[in-house]
Amino acid sequence: MMHFLKVVVFTLLVIGGFWGFSNFGIPQIVPEPPPAEEKLDLGAMTMETFVALGEKIFQGKGTCTLCHNKMGRAPMLDQAGAAAAERLKDPRYAGAAKTAEEYLHESMVKPSAFVVAGFGKSGSNDTESPMPDVTGGGIGLSGSEVKAVIAFLQESSGAEVTVEIPKDAPADAAAPAAPADAPASTPEAVVAKYGCGACHIVAGQEGAVGPDLTKVGARLGKDALRQSILEPDAVVAKGFEPGMMPGGYGEQFKASELELLVNYLAGLKP
Ligand code: HEC
Ligand code: HEC
Repeated sequence: MMHFLKVVVFTLLVIGGFWGFSNFGIPQIVPEPPPAEEKLDLGAMTMETFVALGEKIFQGKGTCTLCHNKMGRAPMLDQAGAAAAERLKDPRYAGAAKTAEEYLHESMVKPSAFVVAGFGKSGSNDTESPMPDVTGGGIGLSGSEVKAVIAFLQESSGAEVTVEIPKDAPADAAAPAAPADAPASTPEAVVAKYGCGACHIVAGQEGAVGPDLTKVGARLGKDALRQSILEPDAVVAKGFEPGMMPGGYGEQFKASELELLVNYLAGLKP
């Protein structure tokens, strides 16, 4: 009996000791108050951050590097800012731009105003550009985002940056993009997220670089579709060349996104 009491008392002491320690002994962690919400003020943005924003859009949301890369399906743009003034003197130039900045702007919103020799849609004799209007549906850059990209193109080619940072720009121009790892939940959202519509007619978008996908389910089954997305060069569509469709989708796609898209494409039949 004595022994039992000893155990009880000891136990109570231990519990009490922990209780006291946990209440008074452990320093309280007082969380820092969250930082006051920063309103993005483009008026206060420096040219350096504006150019950096342009580079981010160029490599991300703008989908520019899907085509403007070393594969040769579109001209490299590392000299575009500097070369823009030369384009205006080209006898083939028939657009409305008067300055290099206006030329770059026109190239992005009305690509067919001037088509770089050799890069036109096949059969158009360089009068029609395969490049989409980057403010249009599939890519949807805002006016401020286009300006940021122009600033980046000018800066990175060593030309004078003539763009003015827009003051009345909507704050979303500099807002961080939606977290990239939230999986897209509809086939249309998957197509938009990975820029398929820049090159294909699919899900309401009108890309002109790759095959029309509106009836692709009649040509390809699910396995072939999966392969054509993950290993585009394994089987090359008739009339096209290998190396044109980007090869990195396997690392970027979430499994659920790939299945959504493959099921959707497989169902596209006349
Ligand atoms: C689907 C492929 C594709 C995408 C996406 C694309 N481009 Fe292009 N771009 C082209 C092609 C092809 C040309 C050459 C034909 C022409 O002049 O329109 C071109 C031409 C240009 C030119 C004119 C270059 C010169 O030397 O005169 C500029 C500037 C340009 N693109 C900027 C961009 C920017 C910025 C983006 C992203 C916001 C972009 N492009 C997205 C295919 C694309
Ligand atoms: C930069 C342009 C470009 C982008 C972006 C692109 N593709 Fe393609 N795609 C092509 C070209 C060119 C071909 C034809 C050559 C080949 O088969 O590899 C092709 C072929 C295909 C084919 C085979 C079509 C057939 O008839 O055999 C499918 C399916 C396809 N792409 C789906 C997609 C999907 C889905 C995405 C987005 C995740 C995408 N592509 C993004 C250019 C592109």
